[in-house]
Amino acid sequence: MSTDVMIYANDLSKNFGSFRAVDKINFEVRRGEVVGFLGPNGAGKSTTMRILTCFISPTGGTAKINGFDVFDDPLAVRESLGYLPQRAPLYLEMSVLEYLKFAADLRGLDDSTFKKRARSVVEVCGLAQVLGKEIRHLSHGYRQRVGLGQALIHDPPILILDEPTSDLDPNEKAEFLDYIKQIGQERTVLLSTHNLSEVEIACARAIIVSKGRVVADGPLDEIRAKSGRVRYVVSIQESAGTHPYRGKGLPPKKAEVETLLNALDGVRKVTELPTDERAHTYELATDEGVDLRPELFQMIVQKGWVLLELHRDAQTLEDVFRHLTIGDARRNRTLDAGAEDEDEESDEAEEETEADETDDDDSDAKDKD
Ligand SMILES: Nc1ncnc2c1ncn2[C@@H]1O[C@H](COP(=O)(O)OP(=O)(O)O)[C@@H](O)[C@H]1O
Ligand SMILES: [Mg+2]
Repeated sequence: MSTDVMIYANDLSKNFGSFRAVDKINFEVRRGEVVGFLGPNGAGKSTTMRILTCFISPTGGTAKINGFDVFDDPLAVRESLGYLPQRAPLYLEMSVLEYLKFAADLRGLDDSTFKKRARSVVEVCGLAQVLGKEIRHLSHGYRQRVGLGQALIHDPPILILDEPTSDLDPNEKAEFLDYIKQIGQERTVLLSTHNLSEVEIACARAIIVSKGRVVADGPLDEIRAKSGRVRYVVSIQESAGTHPYRGKGLPPKKAEVETLLNALDGVRKVTELPTDERAHTYELATDEGVDLRPELFQMIVQKGWVLLELHRDAQTLEDVFRHLTIGDARRNRTLDAGAEDEDEESDEAEEETEADETDDDDSDAKDKD
């Protein structure tokens, strides 16, 4: 393994009872990367992060942080990383400064190191205005920045942030992502979210998980291209147009529009889009390498309809995400469903589960929010 690999997961699995939350996940994050860890709710993001941060033990596989194994070297792992859990364990009655001191004490920082680090954290996380305030009086946005400060207090090279922006309003989100971008210039960051636009703002690479498995991993452009699909939006005026030779035509009927669109060569899917305009608006998906625009235009002219809009673009990350993670909620991941599970480790795994769940309770007890 290269020394540049800061986060390493190899065949990482986690069962909760007979349920497989993480199913042989593999990935590496290198020094200095800011990687989006994407997936719908229940995909296994938090579970993976809790294994990486030594809060729960894996059922199978290996995880290393900064070269240290989470199982053999948990102390070195914890020293190497800062972790902001999905629900940050903030103590609401503490002031921001008290809380940072508390976090530093937990990390065993001496006073002078704390002072030095606090200065830097306050600056990096924009906390100067609220240092003396009780956390309970802070907005969500500020609370998350305090959580980030806590994660950075011991100057770790790696940050693991679990949906840090999920409760923030759009302005707070944008601000928080700016902080992450800045922090990511010097550190390795794994940022989980189900919000794709955030990944596009803050990360150059994404790992997409679905049903406990990695379904895509790579630079965003590569992931976008992965579906190999092209998207069109075509909008046709509801009322009749006037044909240059044939005069006033008939208004387009929805069923006819749909039939004609579906009949075009290369069209894989036709979806009606809601619109405020008096128009029939559709999204079409075709394979790459097809350009439907001339045919679409001619078909509409031929019918004497009025074309209000026509554009073509590569699929968005969101389309790819939906395509890759579709059916996530539907899949039955219970181990005793049998057919899908080929992992011999699953039996020994089940024995560990109860202890793990106790672990979980401990960590959640800190969460007074
Ligand atoms: N302590 C637990 N006990 C039982 N099931 C769990 C536990 N933690 C998570 N799960 C289940 O594992 C799956 C993955 O959860 P999680 O990792 O939290 O997903 P995500 O963070 O991607 O939303 C979910 O179906 C969740 O209900
Ligand atoms: Mg989660």
